Amino acid sequence: ATVPVILSGGVGSRLWPLSRELYPKQFLDLTASGSTLVQETVARLAGVPGLTAPLVVCNQEHRFLVAEQLRENPLGPARILLEPMGRNTAPAVAVAALQAMREDPEAVLAVFPADHRIEHPEVLRSALGNAVAAARDGWLVTFGIVPTRAETGFGYIAAGEPVDDDEAVLRVERFVEKPDRRRAEEYLQSGGFYWNSGMFVFRASRYLEELERLAPEMLNACEAALETATADLDFIRLGAAAFEACPGESIDYAVMEHTEAAVTLPLAAGWNDLGSWGALLDSGEADEAGNVLLGDVISEDSQGNYVRADSRLVALVGLRDHVVVETSDCVLVAPRERVHEVKGVVARLQREG
Ligand code: GDD
Ligand code: MG
Repeated sequence: ATVPVILSGGVGSRLWPLSRELYPKQFLDLTASGSTLVQETVARLAGVPGLTAPLVVCNQEHRFLVAEQLRENPLGPARILLEPMGRNTAPAVAVAALQAMREDPEAVLAVFPADHRIEHPEVLRSALGNAVAAARDGWLVTFGIVPTRAETGFGYIAAGEPVDDDEAVLRVERFVEKPDRRRAEEYLQSGGFYWNSGMFVFRASRYLEELERLAPEMLNACEAALETATADLDFIRLGAAAFEACPGESIDYAVMEHTEAAVTLPLAAGWNDLGSWGALLDSGEADEAGNVLLGDVISEDSQGNYVRADSRLVALVGLRDHVVVETSDCVLVAPRERVHEVKGVVARLQREG
């Protein structure tokens, strides 16, 4: 069976003030589509053959949000693995793999971040068939996105030769997570590089084998956390002491940069990581003046702005290339090219309480 694993543990600080520790972006209807990002993540998989009900990995603080939002999902009752604290994605995937193997030692995992948008889900659905076939052959499958800018927030994949005659799946020659600006520009220009989409497909046992080789203390800690887990309702609560001792690292740094078993399947599905206000501006529906306006907003002679009004009327006059986000208790105003610095605001608020 193929187990959809939904990673929903991020805090989304680059989307402050909308995304908060207690209410991160995956639980919000960011694109005003009527569903939240985590709901869309599961719903877009409906109809893919051979999928089990989803296995969600999230922070224990968010258990009721997840349970409530996925109560009526099309894949069936979600099982929810609760992390007492975030240890990044490599351990999150490891505990999912260990849990899936208890039920089916041959299980294939299809790992999805809970905060992406995909404009053409049918393209992803059909690519999953190829991905699962390659995973059964022992590959760790990534999905390659043709890069359109020198983004430094993504992983880059240098693609090599096809693994077999049908040419859909390419060897990964090199995987570089979050390169600096200079290298990102180089990769963009040289061609032959893809962005890593952050979705992965592999046999659970194959991932754990790689982890045993590359990060054995992480694997041990994850095994101990699951052995000391307690079940309550649909929740599986990982053992806190064991998980706390687990090193925190992303799957990209811990495994993908080092493994020889990675392949990539190029994907043109209108993929977007809605990780920042800049990405939302680029992917949102703009009016003739290039403004993306959500909620009660009046705009006069203003161009290239992203404005979101959640609880009050917001009026713009003569504003260019800004991000304005109004919520009931705070307002963010920043020039578009500096809006990523909002991360610093979040850090400062955490420090100063
Ligand atoms: N359960 C759990 N626990 N989930 C987590 C944790 C954690 O500790 N940390 C992050 N996640 C979830 C996030 O909610 C998100 O859905 C996903 O895992 C990826 O984490 P991000 O923090 O958003 O990663 P990123 O965007 O910086 O980088 C990854 O995605 C890029 C594409 O969006 C990497 O895989 C890059 O290589 C990739 O290009
Ligand atoms: Mg992300």
